[in-house]
Amino acid sequence: MSKRKRLVWQIFPPMLVVTMIAVMGTFFLASKITRQFYIEQITTNLKVRARLVRSDIQADFRAGQGDLQRRSRQMAVLSQARVTLIKANGEVRADSDKNPADMDNHAHRPEVAIALTGNPGTSMRFSHTLGKNMIYVALPVFTTDNRLSPVFGVVRLAIPFIFVNQVLDMMYWQNFFAAFIMLVIAAIVTLFVSRKLSKPLEDMGRTARQYSRLDFSHKINFPDGGYSIEVAELADTINSMAMELYRRIDTVTKQKNELEAVFKSMIEGVLVVDNRGRLVRANDTALKIFNLPSNYHPGAITESIRNVDLSRFIREILSGGYVREQDLVLYLAGGERHFHLSGTPIRDGSNKTGAMVVLNDITRTKKLENIRREFVANVSHELKTPITSINGFVETLLDGALENSLEAKHFLEIIHRQARRLDAIINDLLKLSRIEREDDMGAVELHHQDLLPVLNNCLEMCAVAAREKGIKLILDGGPGITALINQNLMEQAVTNLVVNAIKYSSEGGEVRIKSWQDERQIQIAVSDNGCGIAREHLSRLFERFYRSDKARSRKLGGTGLGLAIVKHIVKAHGGEVKVKSRSGRGSTFTIILPDTPLRPIS
Ligand SMILES: Nc1ncnc2c1ncn2[C@@H]1O[C@H](COP(=O)(O)OP(=O)(O)OP(=O)(O)O)[C@@H](O)[C@H]1O
Ligand SMILES: [Mg+2]
Repeated sequence: MSKRKRLVWQIFPPMLVVTMIAVMGTFFLASKITRQFYIEQITTNLKVRARLVRSDIQADFRAGQGDLQRRSRQMAVLSQARVTLIKANGEVRADSDKNPADMDNHAHRPEVAIALTGNPGTSMRFSHTLGKNMIYVALPVFTTDNRLSPVFGVVRLAIPFIFVNQVLDMMYWQNFFAAFIMLVIAAIVTLFVSRKLSKPLEDMGRTARQYSRLDFSHKINFPDGGYSIEVAELADTINSMAMELYRRIDTVTKQKNELEAVFKSMIEGVLVVDNRGRLVRANDTALKIFNLPSNYHPGAITESIRNVDLSRFIREILSGGYVREQDLVLYLAGGERHFHLSGTPIRDGSNKTGAMVVLNDITRTKKLENIRREFVANVSHELKTPITSINGFVETLLDGALENSLEAKHFLEIIHRQARRLDAIINDLLKLSRIEREDDMGAVELHHQDLLPVLNNCLEMCAVAAREKGIKLILDGGPGITALINQNLMEQAVTNLVVNAIKYSSEGGEVRIKSWQDERQIQIAVSDNGCGIAREHLSRLFERFYRSDKARSRKLGGTGLGLAIVKHIVKAHGGEVKVKSRSGRGSTFTIILPDTPLRPIS
């Protein structure tokens, strides 16, 4: 574990040690002073008693009268001390506690030696006579009352030191007890103060840890009183920092979510790679394009997406560091798809951190472009054939064929036919573009009307052609079907289908026009039992100039635009046209119209 300590344990023990040293120092000093003071008091007291004893006994001592031994005992009782009378030569004259005869010469006892010089002497020492520690006070007794006279002897008072020690011990223990109480109080106060200092810091630490986990549900909250200004200011600062952090994170999260939504919903595929060319992000469209799982493992782009051109494109952006664009063809499960790639290096300050590639699916545009190109080529080709023919015959006429009126008539007839064909093609093209334009602008006028007259008109228009080929036209479908249509256009569409049915049927065939209404739609089917169409042509049949059987169609004078016109007319009605056919077994073309009005009747 870390060696860090909690603040309370950093403050409390040193404070406690300092307090302990202070209290113990005070205790020892106080004990020492008390002891000295007490001993001085006792010595002073003993001196006073010694003076009283001296004044009482000195006359008799000097005169050598009376029973000094008895007197000394009396004095000892009165003064509560051992009383000793010592002559100037050190001989003990009387002693309250001992027989003077048993006592040795006292001249060299320190207190006695001082007293013999005429000054009061004190001493604290072991008494060999009594066998215990004693405090001694010795006063000189002068030969006369004049203090300048020679010293006659010494009056000495002594009390046992044990007694003093007992008192001192008692005082010592009292002091010790007081010091101990002080120490306990100091410890409690120190603990309380250090807890009070560390508590708000611990609270702040706890809340700050919550903030670091982005949990902003609680603020650091201190009551107004009780905390220092510094702590309260620190708490306020942390709170405002947290609020600022919360605001910023909120903004960043919102922006991130918005970008994420844009990123996810983009119809363009987006790939993000890091500076080592590893795929780090791909949006849903890109995942779909490259058939990657949504939990793809970020890794080298060459491994995730095995496409040499794309890998090279990304490498070039990473090494070149500038924006690049390129077209890319991918051969995917659904077929060939064309993409326009835009690659941008991603920079972080001055460092290149990766690249972003946007894949724009231009398959449809490419297809439309191809259709347009093909259409122009087809139109040119379709127009060129009759024009070449006309040119050829006019030149032949000019070269002299005019001379031969029979030949000239034949050539002119051919020229006339080709001119009609040109006219038909141009008319059909104009018709088509008009329908397309009106449909785009929503300008095709639709009216609710009965379908039967429309179909009857078609039959009427085709009756001659049918009769010529001995084909039977049958109208199958009851009256009373009302549809939202543009009569002219619908007649044109159905007629085109009936004309085809007649055109591509053998003589004596049968063409049936059937109309019916079911739940949601109205259907008009034109079927024949003619040559039919091979399966491979069916998907392209409604393209302009597409013919399943070119030779036959040309021979029959078709422009190849009839079904394209049908398709656009039906589309302008919000419907669709379908074909069912088998080679040699006849065909059925069905126009399907929605039964609900698409636009309000204008
Ligand atoms: N009922 C049908 N039976 C067999 N083939 C058909 C039938 N209808 C159309 N086709 C085929 O589809 C092709 C396209 O028909 P479409 O009507 O667009 O052109 P077209 O008939 O050749 O010329 P036109 O523009 O004069 O109608 C035809 O060339 C023909 O090969
Ligand atoms: Mg046709």
